[in-house]
Amino acid sequence: MSHKALRVYDNGGATAVLETVETPKLEAGDVLIDAHYSSINFKDALAVTGKGKIMRRFPTTAGIDVAGVVEASEDERFQPGDQVLVNGYGLGENSDGGLAEMVVTRADYLVPLPEAFSMQDAMALGTAGFTAGISAYRMLQNDQDPEMGKILVTGATGGVGSVATLLLSRLGFEVVALTGKAEQAGDYLSSLGAVQVLDRHALEMTDKPLASVEYAGAVDSVGGDTLSWLTRVTAPEGNLASCGLAGGVKINTTVMPFILRGVNLLGINSVTLPMAVRLKVWDMLAEHIKADDLAAITRQVIGLDEVIQHVGELMDGTMLGRYVVDLKKG
Ligand SMILES: NC(=O)c1ccc[n+]([C@@H]2O[C@H](COP(=O)([O-])OP(=O)(O)OC[C@H]3O[C@@H](n4cnc5c(N)ncnc54)[C@H](OP(=O)(O)O)[C@@H]3O)[C@@H](O)[C@H]2O)c1
Repeated sequence: MSHKALRVYDNGGATAVLETVETPKLEAGDVLIDAHYSSINFKDALAVTGKGKIMRRFPTTAGIDVAGVVEASEDERFQPGDQVLVNGYGLGENSDGGLAEMVVTRADYLVPLPEAFSMQDAMALGTAGFTAGISAYRMLQNDQDPEMGKILVTGATGGVGSVATLLLSRLGFEVVALTGKAEQAGDYLSSLGAVQVLDRHALEMTDKPLASVEYAGAVDSVGGDTLSWLTRVTAPEGNLASCGLAGGVKINTTVMPFILRGVNLLGINSVTLPMAVRLKVWDMLAEHIKADDLAAITRQVIGLDEVIQHVGELMDGTMLGRYVVDLKKG
């Protein structure tokens, strides 16, 4: 049996090619998924363009998430016909990923598709939405409360940012959206629930170790100077969910926010999150986010043969919302 897959080769830099490959045989504990939907995440864009070192071996099929139907299973927990999703666990990094018509993965990594979501809905969220979910989940676990004040969402028009804005608003928080596209995306962010939209190009970021409190917490997909600044202006006991690096990896701060204000820096990793927590995060997303919301954040549903032409938008920061990939299209 063979299937189409978006393969990334290392030819001194990465080259992505849509090609037909042999579908691997299953080993004990494996499942074969008839893949229906995937999505384009920042990490996929890094992998496909070769701008980031994502894949651990070459060639590898790209795609860090997928939703589909179990076609064959070598694990008794899953049967043919089960609708499932997978994200993280090295999918599309150290094993062949979800931008393919068929996916072989470990049964241990499968999440039963939440009842509230179609397979397309699940991938409209995808890894980006799931990461926004982990961020909100960890903040709530660490006693973030709407009474404490406003939450800043950075990189707000991106995949993580869009879902974080939506989800935190649904959870009763006042969300301020920080974006590089304040003019063209103001209405979009307000429709997701943002009470205020700020232009990141006009933001003055103090470098004083402690400055006046501006936010009660943040979901930060930008990192770098933005996260450094957030440590200085976050309220006592506030939580900063650090989940991304769209603006940089290096942070420059002092211990003062942590020891004098009890500010909490929460690390968010969608790849290694244990299954028990993973299921709780998907439950939380299913409770608060509806199909109509997901239609609003879906920029376009594209085919597997259209992925390469769209990844650049995530690399140059012009992306708004999420690209869903219909693996049955075309
Ligand atoms: N920790 C995890 O497990 C995990 C999982 C998923 C994603 N991530 C990370 O989260 C980040 C966002 O992922 P995504 O899928 O949401 O990507 P995305 O859809 O491309 O969104 C990124 C957004 O960040 C903003 N941005 C881009 N370049 C910037 C810059 N130089 N300075 C400041 N802001 C910039 C832009 O939003 P505005 O124009 O609105 O500012 C952009 O739309 C990435 O770094 C990704 O690697 C981490």
